[in-house]
Amino acid sequence: MRALIRSRRTIYPNQYTGEIIPDEQIRELLIDATYAPNHGRTEPWYFFVFSGEARAELGEFLATTYTEITPEDKFKKHKPEEYRQRMTLASHIIVLAMKRGDNPRIPEIEEVEAVACAVQNLQLSAHANSWATYWSSGAIAYHEKTKEAFGLREQDKILGFLYVGVPKEAAPVQSRAPIETKVDWKK
Ligand SMILES: Cc1cc2nc3c(=O)[nH]c(=O)nc-3n(C[C@H](O)[C@H](O)[C@H](O)COP(=O)(O)O)c2cc1C
Repeated sequence: MRALIRSRRTIYPNQYTGEIIPDEQIRELLIDATYAPNHGRTEPWYFFVFSGEARAELGEFLATTYTEITPEDKFKKHKPEEYRQRMTLASHIIVLAMKRGDNPRIPEIEEVEAVACAVQNLQLSAHANSWATYWSSGAIAYHEKTKEAFGLREQDKILGFLYVGVPKEAAPVQSRAPIETKVDWKK
């Protein structure tokens, strides 16, 4: 378990072979995701899974939305094509949503946290199968237009796009700051 957690890495779609993972295996990863902790058992996660031909539609949506919402001074010419290209390399792209549960006592932040826990489950489970994942967030994910396009309500959120694929090779282990810089032990 420890080795699995410490060796998980983000691997970007340009490092994927383009091989397709069977839908049934992706379904199992999604089930793993749903075993994440969630306050009040609201299970606030929702996943839109793009595979096959639908990937190109999502690529087109991302390219168009990027072009529409990016201010001129921030616009990068290569980006729209990059969004389209990624879709041919990833096996599945999972749109990560938080659908707010109907328990008003659970604060929004906790619903978001629960979805992030679910995504981590999914990433670790994919890694256990030597599959790669990349969580992409940013302006498109957080834009109202995107939320609308997926039929989400005002109280819901899109947390990003998870690219899943078969990596050309494993990524090297990445170091972290020494734990002493992140912990204050009280004794
Ligand atoms: C909530 C969240 C959003 C992220 N969004 C992006 C992103 O938009 N672009 C990106 O390149 N990486 C994104 N990442 C991935 C991080 O860049 C990556 O996890 C980080 O570099 C650490 O590398 P590792 O995953 O290999 O440990 C995101 C990660 C998280 C948890």
